[in-house]
Amino acid sequence: MDYKIGRVLISKKEIHNKVKELGEAIRRDHEGETVICVCILKGAFIFCSDLVREIGADVDVRVDFMRISSYGMSDKSSGEVNIVNDVSSDVKGKHVIIVEDIYETGLSLEFAKKHLEDLGAKSVDICVIFDKPNRHEHEVYVKYKGLDIPDDFVIGYGLDYASKFRDLKELHIAEPVTK
Ligand code: IMP
Ligand code: MG
Repeated sequence: MDYKIGRVLISKKEIHNKVKELGEAIRRDHEGETVICVCILKGAFIFCSDLVREIGADVDVRVDFMRISSYGMSDKSSGEVNIVNDVSSDVKGKHVIIVEDIYETGLSLEFAKKHLEDLGAKSVDICVIFDKPNRHEHEVYVKYKGLDIPDDFVIGYGLDYASKFRDLKELHIAEPVTK
């Protein structure tokens, strides 16, 4: 199966408004504190860069990265999660927020949360920009939740198909190409 860029599912404006809201919620909860935002690579890199700029100067925001893989080159999760790159800072005793592109089955989020807790973080919360509520298999508590979307495979705003389309400014449906 190959995909091309389909119709816009969520506009730039809608995404921007939600990111602003999420940033404000994080600021309210963490005023005067240090927070490490752990961006889950690669999909969350665009969302994370927008989000941290909406949190504001009242929070001491640090950024770190973790790369985990569950998808490979396909459009279906392999059901197995691996750490490709771990965080580089010491999260022990720190407030950590996992910044992820999408909550689909929840496998990646569950895995990342447990890993950061095992490293001794003081708190580990989750922030996602997109959620596919009908696809959950692993229930995780998402404190900072963005926009619900249908079950379709989507691309853009960081999300890829076979490494393509991350650069699209809006969230699009990935449309199957039938040959
Ligand atoms: P989960 O572990 O099943 O929740 O899947 C999470 C990961 O799968 C996300 O970090 C995304 O990288 C990827 N993913 C899930 N749904 C989509 C999609 O519709 N398009 C592109 N990537 C997706
Ligand atoms: Mg991802």
